[in-house]
Amino acid sequence: MNSQSIGIFDSGIGGLTVANAISSALPKEHLIYFGDTEHMPYGEKSSELIQEFSVKITKYLIEKKNCKAIVIACNTASAMAYNYLKEEYLGKIPIINVIDPMIELLVESNYQNVGIIATRGTISSGVYQDKLKRRAPHQKYTAIATPLLASMIEENHIEDDVSKAIIHSYLGDPSLSEIDALVLACTHYPLIASIIDTYFDHKVTLLKSGEIVAIKLSEILQKENLLASDHLQKENEFIVSDKTKNFENSAKNFYGQRIKLKEVKL
Ligand code: DGL
Repeated sequence: MNSQSIGIFDSGIGGLTVANAISSALPKEHLIYFGDTEHMPYGEKSSELIQEFSVKITKYLIEKKNCKAIVIACNTASAMAYNYLKEEYLGKIPIINVIDPMIELLVESNYQNVGIIATRGTISSGVYQDKLKRRAPHQKYTAIATPLLASMIEENHIEDDVSKAIIHSYLGDPSLSEIDALVLACTHYPLIASIIDTYFDHKVTLLKSGEIVAIKLSEILQKENLLASDHLQKENEFIVSDKTKNFENSAKNFYGQRIKLKEVKL
């Protein structure tokens, strides 16, 4: 069991920011990443459709690729499909989402006024808002949908006039003017963290999910006795459901090094 792979999935290549954090925290593990580029963006789709895609990918990673744990490296899929997948695989295989570790961090923090930016799907699901209302009732929060950001980043508008104009327009929302922390609640957003940091004049703490999800995964694997004991020498696998040259080029920005993408149709 311990030499089996960890399956990670996202709507596209944004979840590579989480895969990268996992491979740094757990270098002995073998990772299989699945980016559903054929159906991206998830942020604008119905929860029924996202659930259907997520179930298909999870089944593939477990049944075909024999993964020992699944990480949903996408906030939108975590918001819409995690509960279903958790029920489905309860007691069989650990399923980790990117939202709960962030909620834990917020609950234990001293932040007074938290901003949350995410896709339209994540924000309208109300998952962050409901969990915070219940777990941290004294914390003030503002959740706003920033639907153009993920596509903008995928299109490689990272630090140019286009990205600055869009970012400034979203972050200029008056409800964000008093925040002391901002949750980057989409796995694409770490790529524009430095522009956001500059926008807030380094006065707002930016919270990303990669590292905390990697820590959570490591705790769960340890508890379940599933950690790889030896370095698994195989190269990590990166799969997409629709491969284009553009994805291959921008994947490097997300993962931090050039990777080879393989196409698999489910
Ligand atoms: N990476 C996805 C997330 O974390 C968003 C991108 C999309 O809309 O597909 O929510």
